[in-house]
Amino acid sequence: MSYSHVMRIDIVTLFPEMFAGPFDISIIARARESGLLEIALHNPRDYTADKHHIVDDYAYGGGPGMVMKPEPLFDCVDAVRAAGPRGRVVLLTPQGRVLNHQVAAELAREERLILICGHYEGVDERVRESLADDEISIGDYVLSGGEPAAIVLVDAVARHQPGVLGSAASLEEESHAQGLLEYPQYTRPPVFREMAVPEVLLSGHHAEIEKWRRQQSVLRTARRRPELLANATLSAAERRLVEAESGGEVSATPALLRVAVPVSDIERAAAFYAAALGTPGARVAPGRHDFDCGRIVLACVESADGEARPNAQPICFAVPDLAAAFERVREAGCQWIERRPKTRDGGERSFQARDPFGNPLCFVDERTASGSGRKE
Ligand SMILES: C[S@@+](CC[C@H](N)C(=O)[O-])C[C@H]1O[C@@H](n2cnc3c(N)ncnc32)[C@H](O)[C@@H]1O
Repeated sequence: MSYSHVMRIDIVTLFPEMFAGPFDISIIARARESGLLEIALHNPRDYTADKHHIVDDYAYGGGPGMVMKPEPLFDCVDAVRAAGPRGRVVLLTPQGRVLNHQVAAELAREERLILICGHYEGVDERVRESLADDEISIGDYVLSGGEPAAIVLVDAVARHQPGVLGSAASLEEESHAQGLLEYPQYTRPPVFREMAVPEVLLSGHHAEIEKWRRQQSVLRTARRRPELLANATLSAAERRLVEAESGGEVSATPALLRVAVPVSDIERAAAFYAAALGTPGARVAPGRHDFDCGRIVLACVESADGEARPNAQPICFAVPDLAAAFERVREAGCQWIERRPKTRDGGERSFQARDPFGNPLCFVDERTASGSGRKE
C-alpha cells in the first residue's frame, strides 16, 4: 500500500531524552518504521553562541523563574526550516487553543509541524508573536515543560495519518469523531465475576449490534458530556432518548431555522450565515424536507409563505439556541417579517424574517414540531 502523505514532525526541546520511549513503541514506532511519520528532535542549546550555552534569562520587570531566550529558539527553527518545507510552527503553551479531535485532524493535514516546547516560566513573548504560527494547549492545567504536551499532540495527530491505524474505521468510531463518546467495549470471557457481556453483542446480528452501539454512544454522551451533544447529529428518536435520560433538563431539542435561498445565491448566503452564526453549515440534499437535526439548524427549504421552492438548496447550521441565533443574524442585517410565533400544520410554532439578500427565513421551534427531523 502506498500513502502520499508522509508527515514530518520536528520537536524543539531542551530535553530530547524525554522522548525516548513514547516514540519507540506501539503505533508511533510502527508509523515511523513504515515511513508514514518522521520525527526529529532539536535542542536549542545547540544554537547558542556563548560558551555556557545559555538558553534562559531573568524576566524583565522581575518575577519568579527564568524565561527562555528568543535567539536560540529562532536560530534553531530557522536551521530546521532550511531543510525541507517551511512547516507550521506550533508553540506548546497552556494559553493556546485546546487540543481536541478537530484540532488534531486539522494539524494532521500539515506536511510538516515544528513543535516548540517551553520550559521554566515559558518563552520570550517574541517567540509567540513572530515565530509561532499556532499555539496549542493540551488542557487547562500547567505542566513543567512542553515535552509531555508534544508527546500527546504527536500521538493524537499521528492517528489521523492515513495508514497509521490498522483500520480507518477505528478512528471514525472512536470517541469525539462524531461529536459523541464511543459505546462500551467488551471482549472475552462472556461472563467475568458474574458480570455478563450484553447479550446483543453475542447475537451475531450486525444491524442490532450497530443500533445498540449507537444508542449507548448517545446515552453515554448525554450522561457524561452533555455539552458535546450541541454539535452531534441526532435523529428525532435519539433526541427523545436524551431528553428522557436527562429528565428534560439537558435539552437536545433543536431549534430549527429555515431559510429559502435560491441556488444561484447559495455560496453568498452560505458564507453569510456561517459568518453570522459563527459555525460552518452543512449542505442537505436539494429537495429534502426531512434531515438529521441534532441541535440544529438552518435549512433553506421554504419560502416565506411556507411553499417549497424547488430551486432552493438546503443548508443546515448547528444552532444550540434559537433566540441567540436570531439575535446574531439580526445584527448581521436580517429583519422580522412577523414577530409572533404562528402555529403551522404539524403543530410547530414559527415566525418569519428576511435576510439582507431578500431571502425569507423561517424560525421554527422544533420542540413543537411533529414533522421535522430525520425519518426513522
Ligand atoms: C511552567 S510552564 C509555563 C507557564 C506560563 N508561565 C503560564 O503561566 O502560561 C512551562 C512550559 O510548559 C509547557 N506547558 C505547560 N502547560 C501546558 C499545557 N497545558 N499545554 C501545553 N504546554 C504546556 C509550555 O511549553 C510552557 O512554556
